[in-house]
Amino acid sequence: MTPYQGYHALARVYDKLNAELDYSAWADFIEDCFARFLPEKPQYVLDLACGTARMALELAARGYDMIGVDGSADMLAEAYARGAFGAGILLLHQDMRAFELYGTVGAVVCCLDSLNYLLTREDLLSCLRLVHNYLDPDGVFLFDVNTPFKFEQIYGNNAYVLEDELTFDGGEEGEERAAVYCGWQNAYDPESRICEFSLSVFEEDADGRYRREDEIQHERCYSLDELRECLAEAGFDFLGVWQDFSFTPPSPTAERWYIGARAKK
Ligand SMILES: C[S@@+](CC[C@H](N)C(=O)[O-])C[C@H]1O[C@@H](n2cnc3c(N)ncnc32)[C@H](O)[C@@H]1O
Repeated sequence: MTPYQGYHALARVYDKLNAELDYSAWADFIEDCFARFLPEKPQYVLDLACGTARMALELAARGYDMIGVDGSADMLAEAYARGAFGAGILLLHQDMRAFELYGTVGAVVCCLDSLNYLLTREDLLSCLRLVHNYLDPDGVFLFDVNTPFKFEQIYGNNAYVLEDELTFDGGEEGEERAAVYCGWQNAYDPESRICEFSLSVFEEDADGRYRREDEIQHERCYSLDELRECLAEAGFDFLGVWQDFSFTPPSPTAERWYIGARAKK
């Protein structure tokens, strides 16, 4: 297995660039899923590929005992800086294709297309088998993926710039500028169904100059049939696929599928 190496340059600025994501609404939907698919609220919940632990913190605040697993030490350092340790979240620096927990959990969540980072069917299966292994009987796995529509029509071979909130730097000749810019170039290969993201992160230093760091990331596009097959092979019952934090079936132009599965044991 190629060791996981991702999220260095992006880690420090990740939350600034994703500030608009509503983890509170997302956690509401996760709790709706718990109410619908579990006999009672789970005590232990694993946030797989937890990143900077925004979801783990949100769920910890709602009373769940949280474990966060991530393969990037830089993302976990950000999680620590956000107060994950103080909130009682157990952070584990592990690869999601080969992680180990101390015991089982009632639910596993995996947010913001983290499963798309698994680039082969074998890697996806290794991860799903472990999720199944560490779930209580009938425990639920809730995750989301970027859809084929998003890879083909939105990512494609497009380039864009992300920036954090603009601030006015004052004075008559002042201008609005962001402290972070991220240049984003996509290259999607329809054969391998792998999208390469070439990122250039520019972050403002104290002296007003911008420091540049580059990073390459890859995501793999999975069809719904592939996901369902892999879930079944790993021992899951498929519970449904939805969009927009509701139990609505996804439209053909949905960019993200929210999926639920139950561990049969
Ligand atoms: C898009 S971020 C999402 C982070 C977090 N779930 C969130 O909602 O902000 C993807 C995360 O997956 C992690 N990741 C990707 N591949 C991984 C692997 N093989 N093992 C563990 N973590 C991995 C990255 O380090 C990163 O933190």
